[in-house]
Amino acid sequence: MPKGVKMEKYRPKIHFSAEDYIINDPNGLVYYKGEYHLFHQYNINEQIYWGHAVSKDLVHWKRLPKAIAPDKIGQIWSGSAVVDEENQRMVAFFTYSEHETKRQSQGVAFSYDKGRTWEKYSGNPILTDSREDFRDPKVFRYEEKWVMILSGGDCVLLYESKDLIHWNQISSFKGNQESHTGVWECPDLFPMIVETTEERKWVLTVSINDGSPAGGTGMQYFVGEFDGQKFIADSNQEKGLWIDYGKDFYAGVTWNHVPKDRRLMIAWADNWQYRDYLPTSPFKGQMSCVRELKLVQKEKKYILKQLPVKEMECLRTNKHEMKNIKMGADEEWTLCDKKEVLELV
Ligand code: FRU
Repeated sequence: MPKGVKMEKYRPKIHFSAEDYIINDPNGLVYYKGEYHLFHQYNINEQIYWGHAVSKDLVHWKRLPKAIAPDKIGQIWSGSAVVDEENQRMVAFFTYSEHETKRQSQGVAFSYDKGRTWEKYSGNPILTDSREDFRDPKVFRYEEKWVMILSGGDCVLLYESKDLIHWNQISSFKGNQESHTGVWECPDLFPMIVETTEERKWVLTVSINDGSPAGGTGMQYFVGEFDGQKFIADSNQEKGLWIDYGKDFYAGVTWNHVPKDRRLMIAWADNWQYRDYLPTSPFKGQMSCVRELKLVQKEKKYILKQLPVKEMECLRTNKHEMKNIKMGADEEWTLCDKKEVLELV
């Protein structure tokens, strides 16, 4: 071990993790001027910031200083970011968990230096409501306007805007009753071209805080149409489908403005059941690998096909092939004597 390198038990080798403290949801996913930005919920002694990292290849991440700090209005909860080309800036949308009122409201911040520093909008919060759950704005471009989808607790709410500051509600979506085993969080909505038929469909994803197949928190998706106002699930897809059957894929959202229309998702590889009890130190929590999503047709339904981004193949070295292997019960085989990282195909 080289001098000065800290030996940290359980530090992930290929997944993004913060240097220290606790992370949860990915936030502000946006591609801008050759960099993929990954902001994230960063809980430092119960003060919630947006932490920040950038990558050129979605595999190697460079940690940057914290991006958005809690202020006199509230803590900085989850949200998204877009590129406002007209004003040559990045714009971030986040939820304020307000200190005084305890309500949730939406705030905006601007960056003119590729996300390195942020100025909060002086008129924050820009969107308030009396709902107990009103959070996690995901903003995206739709033709000549901007659309925001955010969680209303037992539904998602859709808003539109021309200037990114003034927002009007246009619709909501609730899905099937079976998708309400917990509060809805961190929604996303995006178009996808069906791989085999080339038609365009819209996918609405949502994170459900409890009741997932493996227990605790998990994600579902619906496939249908979006006309710029309303999302309507196809009649045979009103029941949400699970995105992942494991325990550790939550609050996943997709990047805005990715070249070549690729749809890339990253999630928090953790679960609210045990976020605070992970045995790691000085950090808790990690992100999933980045997945590329494709939409395919299967038995009259549209389903998501997910693969780790092909960029990850750059990590493959020292290939060993073993053929016609017979392994007996109780036999032990050493596949990788360095005990580092191993991919099994
Ligand atoms: C999802 C979530 C979001 C919220 C954030 C707070 O994991 O509960 O709804 O904005 O975490 O950290």
